[in-house]
Amino acid sequence: MSDEKNTSFSGQLGFVLASAGSAVGLGNIWRFPYLAAKDGILFIIIYLLLVLSFGFALLLTDITIGRKTRRSSIFAYYAISPKWRYLGVLTFFVPALIMTYYPVIGGWICHYIMVYLTGLQAAAADSSYFTGFISSTTSPVGYGLFFMLITGLIIFFGVQSGIERVSCWLLPIMFLMIIGIAGYVLTLEHTDANGQTRSGMMGLIYFLTPRFEDLTLSRFMQILLDAMGQMFFSLSISMGIMITYGSYVNKEVNLSKCVLQIASFDTLAALLAAVIIIPTIFVFSGPEGMSAGPSLMFISLPKIFNVMGTAGVVIGALFFVMAAFAALTSCISVLEPIVANIMDMFHSERKKTTVLTTLFYLGTVSVIALGYSIFYVEVKLPNGSTAQLLDIMDYISTCFMMPMISLLTCLLIGWLVGSHWISDEVECCGHVFRAKGFYTLMIRYLAPVVMLILFLQSTGFWNALID
Ligand code: PHE
Repeated sequence: MSDEKNTSFSGQLGFVLASAGSAVGLGNIWRFPYLAAKDGILFIIIYLLLVLSFGFALLLTDITIGRKTRRSSIFAYYAISPKWRYLGVLTFFVPALIMTYYPVIGGWICHYIMVYLTGLQAAAADSSYFTGFISSTTSPVGYGLFFMLITGLIIFFGVQSGIERVSCWLLPIMFLMIIGIAGYVLTLEHTDANGQTRSGMMGLIYFLTPRFEDLTLSRFMQILLDAMGQMFFSLSISMGIMITYGSYVNKEVNLSKCVLQIASFDTLAALLAAVIIIPTIFVFSGPEGMSAGPSLMFISLPKIFNVMGTAGVVIGALFFVMAAFAALTSCISVLEPIVANIMDMFHSERKKTTVLTTLFYLGTVSVIALGYSIFYVEVKLPNGSTAQLLDIMDYISTCFMMPMISLLTCLLIGWLVGSHWISDEVECCGHVFRAKGFYTLMIRYLAPVVMLILFLQSTGFWNALID
């Protein structure tokens, strides 16, 4: 292994901030608030319980595998058991696939920053603006390439001077921005065409009010699975990312404490994003105005920012800068395991590997960015949705591969090598691991079962079985 690769985070803080930077991403901004608005406080309670149980156990597993083996996914799984090396290869493909589309979305966000900086907010408020933009053959490619280049540049500088330095700046700034926007949003008030006045506080109360009256068992199961999928994606579990970041942590760091801190940062960011988005939508579009994913961020919100007038331009610009920071710290965590695995494989040095990998992804990003114009396809996925290139990559990596890898990792650790393989490492240097018994229970019994159900649900096979 070359010297440059063999660096580490400067300490606990750098590691926690970089990992939280990976965890806090678009999932927190465009999916969590939607789910929280849909199922209210019940979703939030279930989500918190899942983070503290499954999230804790699986995140700790990834990070500890990294630190104990000091390798990225391919060689880390090989070090656990040579027979299971294919699981490492499979894990490598998750970030390798995500990397083809994440910079494209990062590019869209950068475009919207420019929209607010150049006074195009009225045009962006039109429902067809977003579709028009992504189906152009120049602009989305240009912005996607720009985002990819910045990501490559940060990885080029390595673990401490690149990833850690950027995360230590961007994450606190991003939190300040989220808190600032959330505070402002709660003071909003708006009277609609029917003369109804709604305030931000009313929106927050609406979302915190429990609605148990129409709770059935199947709806409860749906909320549980929604929360599980969200938690899993949000904590960047089973993507090889946390294995790679874990391989840069030194032995003095208390891993179980770090996992709790990372999970807390991520959950706090998700809750704050909900405090921004739910009241904003509630005030201007009413309780029915909520949507998820790109349409929430690039269609619903720009409409509202336009109604807000001058304040909307400032809030719109701040919101998209905040989202760009969230996407960038996640995007670097996707490129790093790819580069690290290639360095391990070919014993190549960081700078050259990063340049070549970035060049490759500049190509794939262009193709995916053109997936709404030149390379437009319509594919029906097993989960029922109609997908373009970007959605196909997302489906394979996050709906299909991630739960499968997680399930196999639980079997490997829980049944083949034993949970002590992890707990011994967590307890090294005299660290106390209070949740040891609980961890064993999770990784051996509960997590594999739940991962199997999640795999069936997120791939769409669950519904096929029920029907
Ligand atoms: N954890 C990130 C989020 O919540 C998602 C992510 C996906 C991060 C893929 C890295 C890679 O949005």
